[in-house]
Amino acid sequence: MKENQYKQALQSALRLALDFLDRLDEDPVDVSLSYEELKSLWQWELPTEGMKPEAVVEEVNLSARPGLKLNQSGRFFSWVIGGSHPSAVAVDWLTAVWDQNAGLYAGTPSSSIVEEIAGSWLKQLLHLPEKASFAFVTGCQMANFVCINVARNHLFRQVGWDFETHGFYGAPKMRVICGDAKHNTITRALRMLGFGSEAVVNIPTDEKGTISVDALRQEFVRDSTSPTMVLLQAGEIHTGAFDDFKSIIPIAHQHNAWVHIDGAFGLWANANPKYAHYLEGAEDADSWATDGHKWLNVPYDSGFAFTAHPSSHFQAMTNNADYLSYNEQARDQYNWNPELSRRARGFTTYATIKELGVRGIADLVDRCCVHASAIVEGIGALPNALILSHPIINQGLLRFVHPNTPEDELSNDIFTLAVIEAINKTGEALFQPSTFKGRKCMRVSVSGWRTSDDDVHRTIAAARLAIEKVGRQVNEKN
Ligand SMILES: Cc1ncc(COP(=O)(O)O)c(C=O)c1O
Repeated sequence: MKENQYKQALQSALRLALDFLDRLDEDPVDVSLSYEELKSLWQWELPTEGMKPEAVVEEVNLSARPGLKLNQSGRFFSWVIGGSHPSAVAVDWLTAVWDQNAGLYAGTPSSSIVEEIAGSWLKQLLHLPEKASFAFVTGCQMANFVCINVARNHLFRQVGWDFETHGFYGAPKMRVICGDAKHNTITRALRMLGFGSEAVVNIPTDEKGTISVDALRQEFVRDSTSPTMVLLQAGEIHTGAFDDFKSIIPIAHQHNAWVHIDGAFGLWANANPKYAHYLEGAEDADSWATDGHKWLNVPYDSGFAFTAHPSSHFQAMTNNADYLSYNEQARDQYNWNPELSRRARGFTTYATIKELGVRGIADLVDRCCVHASAIVEGIGALPNALILSHPIINQGLLRFVHPNTPEDELSNDIFTLAVIEAINKTGEALFQPSTFKGRKCMRVSVSGWRTSDDDVHRTIAAARLAIEKVGRQVNEKN
């Protein structure tokens, strides 16, 4: 047998990967080196000569490790970033070894079949219509892109305009209605799809970031005829709040509007009956976007687009060519996706759902919500801490109040940022600052499967020390 040229490189990768994972409880969650220091760890000159694969693996590991944030840790609460489940990581390695081009069935039958199965499982888990079409994409950005693309062409067809043939030139005006707290990836998807800001009507949102139903109704009174898409949200990025699908979707449908739901993480509330009421009515939408790499804890890149209009989805995305072979029976992914050549994304999702089962996924959702509440309430009970938003699901907001000038919101902003920095510097936990409704705040985002009660206690203890430390520094300055 020919010598296996992968063996030593893969063995090195396994050893280094296990070392990384074994140290997750001890290593600092944040990166402590500066940009200049991190840059200096890499070779910048173009290599003239090659080197042995296992040596490359060792060197890449050495250069990269100090600049890695520990997303996989149970104390990573910065952005909605999950870890990855063991079976999914291992299957992701296999996916790389198999190196399949999952653009079409003929390229790799197994990659196509596994997406068919995983797509059907996802629809069941997320309570979406059985007949919904789907696409496995790189993330929720592209899931929003695919859904809005399908929506645009479908809506134009409804008013007799064939967008696939004529494009925007001479097309009737289309309106996009969304909340002013929409995710930035919606704005970018719209931009990529030819909608400038003038096409967008931003509806005001409440203190949780959800759309005012009355204002939306008024907008349809103002203009009841333009082809319209309504972009709603399941899981506002700061508060985790849900738009009122039950009220809004029937209003939009009365006006033949297309309703899309960006549920990057919030759609997963449907995987646990305890939280599913937040999504009441969402099953009547026309499209849904979500992520695998957030709450399901599938490795990157993994997002899912679904639509209730398979023929419109197919028509908007299909991209056949003479040299490709179209399969009548099986799923050709390029008919649903924005890419042709692509990674075989279905395997990791399939593996994760197999590893957890419906019960394990429900438990994951619940655990994250319970831990988010425990962190927000635990830190919120500390001196100089203020809860801005109790978690509805797995997102909450805290603010820190200046010990000497608590009435001055500007010094509270500065104090909040200083406390977040001090917590992150401990290496015990990682949080992200943000601004919500004009005030600086600390986002508490719990999406990782590893977070335990112990992680919650360690985090609250680190926050206590950080608040005390920043408080002392403030007093020393005065
Ligand atoms: C509500 C919402 N929509 C869309 C996205 C974009 O998802 P991705 O980063 O997977 O493209 C995010 C990411 O945080 C999100 O929270």
